[in-house]
Amino acid sequence: MKNKTTHFVFFSPTGTTQTTILTVGKGTGCKIGTILDLTKEAPQKTPTFTEADLVVVGMPVYGSRLPSLAVERFKSLQGTNTPIVPIVVYGNCHYGDALAELFDLCSEQGFRPVAAGAFLGEHSFSTADLPLSPGRPDAADKKQAETFGIQIGQLPATARLEPVQVPGNRPYKPAPQLTGSATSVDSAACTKCGKCIEACPTQGMHMTSTAAEADPDNCIWCMACERICPSNARSLTHEKVMASAQKLHDHFSARRDPESFLAAN
Ligand SMILES: Cc1cc2nc3c(=O)[nH]c(=O)nc-3n(C[C@H](O)[C@H](O)[C@H](O)COP(=O)(O)O)c2cc1C
Ligand code: SF4
Ligand code: SF4
Repeated sequence: MKNKTTHFVFFSPTGTTQTTILTVGKGTGCKIGTILDLTKEAPQKTPTFTEADLVVVGMPVYGSRLPSLAVERFKSLQGTNTPIVPIVVYGNCHYGDALAELFDLCSEQGFRPVAAGAFLGEHSFSTADLPLSPGRPDAADKKQAETFGIQIGQLPATARLEPVQVPGNRPYKPAPQLTGSATSVDSAACTKCGKCIEACPTQGMHMTSTAAEADPDNCIWCMACERICPSNARSLTHEKVMASAQKLHDHFSARRDPESFLAAN
């Protein structure tokens, strides 16, 4: 893969997926090409990639699957037997069928997976009171991501990863319902700076006379608004999220390590 140009495609509301795939890309030693951030919108122009390219695509795991918004936005891209590396980033619980789903999505869009990875990020629901895989990806994760990139760089141009090499059920387990409530705001703390509205991947927020409010029908619980708020004015206190965070803290604290899968040489 050495003479290729590496392009990056990601959906990453809290930034861990972006950090991970850029680190993998650094390891490949290839020339850096386009960086396509699908977090806030699909690309304006529909890019088509060729066999001279290498694409690294990253998405977070939501409920052991991919965020449907990320899937929809990725469908605007087209490969032509273009080598691709699908990577999912998860919060130390399970990645379930997400990697298989991303592998299949890449194939459906004309890309040829050559390697795949499941990496770790701080869980979106992590808070100071209930930390969940805090600080990840950390130095060890980044080292593994870079090593994975080096291995990708050494693959032959014709490499192909087989679907059976990637863990996951086919058909995938059903995705859980993740909407119906939104982050709430402490109006007294909100300075109406608008940063959360700008960061929201669904454009599902608006400013009122007192504070920035989120629309429950459009919230995907991604926590981008909570992370970016300089006044710590936002939180997600839905009982399902609180229960899930407590369960993760109690039962999924043991460190999990990144996994990577490479085409046979
Ligand atoms: C709605 C939602 C569902 C999630 N489901 C899972 C899950 O099933 N397993 C897991 O380990 N982490 C899960 N996570 C955690 C994210 O996968 C993890 O925090 C990831 O690093 C976020 O990526 P980002 O920083 O690119 O947004 C979930 C996060 C959200 C917001
Ligand atoms: S309102 Fe919901 S979808 Fe929008 S940034 Fe906040 S958590 Fe994400
Ligand atoms: S980022 Fe925080 S302070 Fe700024 S508008 Fe949003 S909630 Fe208010």
